[in-house]
This record gives sequence, structure tokens and C-alpha cells, in this order.
Amino acid sequence: MAVSYKDLGFVNTRAMFKKAMAEGYAVPAYNFNNMEQLQAIVSACLETQSPVILQISSGARKYADKTLLRYMGQGAVEMMKRMASEKGLKEIPIALHLDHGDTFELCKSCIESGFSSVMIDGSHLPFNENIALTKQVVEYAHPFDVTVEGELGILAGVEDDVSAEQHTYTRPEEVQEFVEGTGVDSLAIAIGTSHGAYKFKPGQEQTIRLDILEEIEKRIPGFAIVLHGSSSVPPELVKIINDNGGRLQDAVGIPEPDLRKAAKSAVCKINIDSDGRLAVTAAIRKTLNEKPSEFDPRKYLGPAREALKELFMRKNKEVLGSANRV
Ligand code: G3H
Ligand code: 13P
Ligand code: ZN
Repeated sequence: MAVSYKDLGFVNTRAMFKKAMAEGYAVPAYNFNNMEQLQAIVSACLETQSPVILQISSGARKYADKTLLRYMGQGAVEMMKRMASEKGLKEIPIALHLDHGDTFELCKSCIESGFSSVMIDGSHLPFNENIALTKQVVEYAHPFDVTVEGELGILAGVEDDVSAEQHTYTRPEEVQEFVEGTGVDSLAIAIGTSHGAYKFKPGQEQTIRLDILEEIEKRIPGFAIVLHGSSSVPPELVKIINDNGGRLQDAVGIPEPDLRKAAKSAVCKINIDSDGRLAVTAAIRKTLNEKPSEFDPRKYLGPAREALKELFMRKNKEVLGSANRV
């Protein structure tokens, strides 16, 4: 039986983006696949008083079971409410979002199961097919007051099973037609960010094309822009991993000053997954390396959850500017 996200305590992204646009910050969109990640996201965002978008990818649904993940999201709202009342904090808005939906059927199924927002990623399709697919999802989603994110341009790197060698930057001259032709609520663009922990090749200039972002903003003023692939791959986390038996060579992310500039612009949502993976891996490797006889998962997943929470709190305060915006 279909369930509305409104009955589960989620919100869609419309009011979140309106406020972010007006005040010049970006809402964090953090991916989760398991309980510890979810706890870290929710407690970090509650304690920094930041709105948050919980992201579930189709890979996450395959890994953790789609029903279970949605119920965990619902449980996270209950946890947030209880913690807010215990700590005397304001409740924070939480959206449950499908990350990189690739078919109409997947988006429909997520909406029916209580998601408040979906991404339909037709970025690999020819322009007109991308418009047609995105429009189909929007027409299904909007009567349920579910918001939709579309994408134009292709990020280099790996997304689920699809990988692209080269960036195909978003063409500013196409964005107005796409937005008007589809009715989407937000637009993900490709300006040099990419998925994963290897965002620039050694020797390559480590910067993103903020000039393209500026050009896009001129074509669709006041429209909510989304940046995927926005992990900064903190060197200190890479070092902990490598000092404790890992081998991440030449891992590099998006410079934080670029992300800060983007967050102050029309970019209203910034997607971060890889940095969370690095924080978890660093903490687990360190604990197991220092305590080789430890075998209680709580003893290494607990510190991982704490490290993740600290990372997200810092991002909200120092990079996205979303802290204290509730
Ligand atoms: O954009 C990709 C996200 O990082 C999700 O990754 O598909 O491996 O869950 P995943
Ligand atoms: P990162 O791999 O840079 O964390 O990007 C995550 C993302 O875009 C999820 O959709
Ligand atoms: Zn992405």
C-alpha cells in the first residue's frame, strides 16, 4: 500500500531550497547505507541545527534492502524528535531523497514507499530523451507534492554501474529549455566535480568551473542548482587510512574554498558520500590496527560513527554554511 512521506515526518526540498537560496548556503545531502551512517548524519545535523537531505542510492537499496532503508529513514525522524526534546533543540527538517534514480519505475516505487524527493538522472540520454523522461517523473511526483531533481551534463567518474572518463560540462544554453520543458524543482549540473575519491589526475589543476555555474545562474536566476561529486577527500583521513594498512594513492577531492563559493551561490544542495566512506574506513582501520584483539563490531563501528558525526558537523559549519539555519 502506498504511503505519503508527510505521514512519516519528512519534508520535500522546496522550502529548504527557497531558504538556502535566499540566505546563501547549501543543504547537505549525505548518503547512507547502514545504521551508523544514518545516526551520524542525523545527530550531526540536529546538533548543528542544519536541515538535511538523507540520500539513498539504488546501490544502497540493493545492499541494505529497500524496505529496511526506508524504515530506517522513518526511524531517524523519530530519533531526531526525541533527541531534540531531550537536548532542548529545535527539530530539523529532514528530506528522504532517491539519489541517481535511473528509471521512471524506480522513482515511482520510491514515491509510493514514502520518499519526499527523487532524482531522475537522464544525463546519459540525448537532450530530448532526458527532457521526456524527467517530465514523466515530474508529472507523476508533483501531485504527491514530491520534489524532483534532474541532471544535465555528465560527471566524470563512477556512478553505480555507469562510468565516464571525461566530464561533459553542462551547456548553459540548454538549461532554460530543460527546466521549462520538464518542470523540475532543481537541476544537477556538471562543472568539474566527480564521484569518488580520485577527482583530479596528478598534475591536473584542482579546481572546478565556477564560471559555468555563474553563466547557468544568469540563464535561470533563482533556480535551485545541485552539485554532485562534492567530497573534498580530506588528506588527514587519507593519511590515517594509509598509515593503517590502506593504499589510497593520489586520492584528491574538490577544494573546500570552491565548495564554499558554490554554497553561497544558487547551489542549494551539495552531495557528499565519499568523505563519509573515508571517515568510516579511517576510524575502523585505526581501531583494528591499534587493538588487534578487538572483535566486537560496536568497538570499531562506534568510533567510526563518532568520526563521521564530527566530519558532518564541520562540513555544515565550515563548508556548506547550513549550521544554525533551522
Ligand atoms: O553518486 C553516487 C553515490 O556516491 C552513491 O554511491 O551508488 O555506490 O551507493 P553508490
Ligand atoms: P562524492 O563521491 O564526491 O561524495 O559524491 C557523492 C554524490 O554525488 C552522490 O550523489
Ligand atoms: Zn551523485
